[in-house]
Amino acid sequence: MTRIALLGAGLIGSFYTQALHGARSRDRVELVCSRSATNAAAFAAKWGVERWTTSIDEAVADERIDVVIVALPNDLHKQAVIAAAQAGKAVLCTKPLGRTAEEALQMLRAVEEAGVFHGYLEDLVYPPKTLKGLQSVQAGDLGRILWVRSRETHPGPHSDWFWDKERAGGGAIIDMGCHCIEIARSFIGKNVRPVEVVCWGDTQVHPIESEDHAVGMVRYEDGAIGQFEVSWAFRGGMDLRDEVAGTEGTLWMNHWLRTGMEMYTAKGTSRYVAEKSESNGGWLFPVGDEVAALGYSNMFTDMLDAIDQAREPTETFYDGYIVNAIMDASYRSIQTKRWEPIELPIWRGKKPHDDVGIVPDFDREHVLLKQERMPDGRVKLILRNKVTGELTHRFK
Ligand SMILES: NC(=O)c1ccc[n+]([C@@H]2O[C@H](COP(=O)([O-])OP(=O)(O)OC[C@H]3O[C@@H](n4cnc5c(N)ncnc54)[C@H](O)[C@@H]3O)[C@@H](O)[C@H]2O)c1
Repeated sequence: MTRIALLGAGLIGSFYTQALHGARSRDRVELVCSRSATNAAAFAAKWGVERWTTSIDEAVADERIDVVIVALPNDLHKQAVIAAAQAGKAVLCTKPLGRTAEEALQMLRAVEEAGVFHGYLEDLVYPPKTLKGLQSVQAGDLGRILWVRSRETHPGPHSDWFWDKERAGGGAIIDMGCHCIEIARSFIGKNVRPVEVVCWGDTQVHPIESEDHAVGMVRYEDGAIGQFEVSWAFRGGMDLRDEVAGTEGTLWMNHWLRTGMEMYTAKGTSRYVAEKSESNGGWLFPVGDEVAALGYSNMFTDMLDAIDQAREPTETFYDGYIVNAIMDASYRSIQTKRWEPIELPIWRGKKPHDDVGIVPDFDREHVLLKQERMPDGRVKLILRNKVTGELTHRFK
């Protein structure tokens, strides 16, 4: 059994606790910490948590606790992680790891210097569909990955602090771009260095200082592109979709709206439908098991198994720091309107390499650019001469 202290009793704290307690699970949140005593006590009563406190320091110092989960607003991640590391506790931190790469780097150093287990709680690389897709990509079924498009859009977050640029560290990019960036990075290959970013971001609707809409492209060293699309101005619920394009195949995944359960109610419902659902009447898109669909169940299985097996989990603070560095470059690009380099003072992946030659040879003189069955039934081949570059076609 893993004995857990949960820091933060908000939306994500509830999802995490549901996933951890699961059906007859052996892991328990034993201590919950929230700023307000009323909320902490209410959370503890609702989820069967033994103890509660309003002090982060008291929670991380508790000797009966093995693992600290940081589920606090973004401006408190660094302080909580450093306190947990200094107390010698395994520490799992929600996304984004830091508000900047500098903050994330300080957290990475703190856990590595303390020698404690660290996991970055990026749930959206763990949904069942994504895990299956990743297995196919890693087995080479889609060939080399060229382009990953990841979208998270909804009508805006549920707590005041998200809308405060200083406390959150940014807007839709820091809130949701972190998910999309890590999804793309996971499909492209976490050893492939992200090189530069071009990004548009604007405040289209809300009277706030941060961006409520952004689209960016991350170029990786092997030529792959990770495209992220995030918005707090999207209407109609929460749109979570990923697309992966490789030299040999394509993958499309829809995680939330229209996942296979569609319900019509003429009289409407007063019940919760799904996270960020905007309507409660007419056609609705409920989600059968949100905790599983968003990857929380698989994520905590990986994290807690990794602790038991003394191995690294799929997502560590190092991954969180890389994501923060990509977001820093995205914010710079919004200002300069140019491609901005991704600054990585620590890089532990592949060194520069040459990945050309993905188009197969046809014969000694030609490569095969394209093969297609035409309406008359014949198969047409488009060839390029390897020396002269001349383009020709012939029929098989
Ligand atoms: N899919 C995901 O991975 C996901 C989804 C939502 C939120 N998050 C992340 O989780 C974190 C929390 O978000 P949320 O949606 O749960 O926010 P929330 O506003 O719903 O809850 C925040 C909680 O932190 C507590 N808190 C605030 N200041 C505190 C303090 N000084 N000491 C103790 N407790 C304090 C509040 O009392 C509250 O219980 C954020 O970093 C957010 O980015 C992740």
